Amino acid sequence: PHVTYVAADRSEQTLDLPVGTTVMRGALSHGVDGIVGQCGGYVQCATCHVYVGPDLLDRLEAVGADEERMLGFTAGPRTPSSRLSCRIEVTEDLDGLQVRLPEQQI
Ligand code: FES
Repeated sequence: PHVTYVAADRSEQTLDLPVGTTVMRGALSHGVDGIVGQCGGYVQCATCHVYVGPDLLDRLEAVGADEERMLGFTAGPRTPSSRLSCRIEVTEDLDGLQVRLPEQQI
């Protein structure tokens, strides 16, 4: 499935990621700037914050309790489309997902 990362300067990078990885891991393994993932995906840092594009936002699983708590600590402003990208598992259903990256993660 393809995931497009839109940087704060609006430059885009589209990756074809394997099912089962996360949007955070995909970014890190391809050197996408703008996602830090300091805690390694354990929902303890909020440096993997992204804004999910409206098209597929409702296909994501609901925000879990841990994610909800950490979304209170994002460096960039939290919006209704804010999610932690280590909690977004890539599935065929999410092909075409777009995530916008905040200006800062720390
Ligand atoms: Fe730390 Fe997502 S990588 S919360």
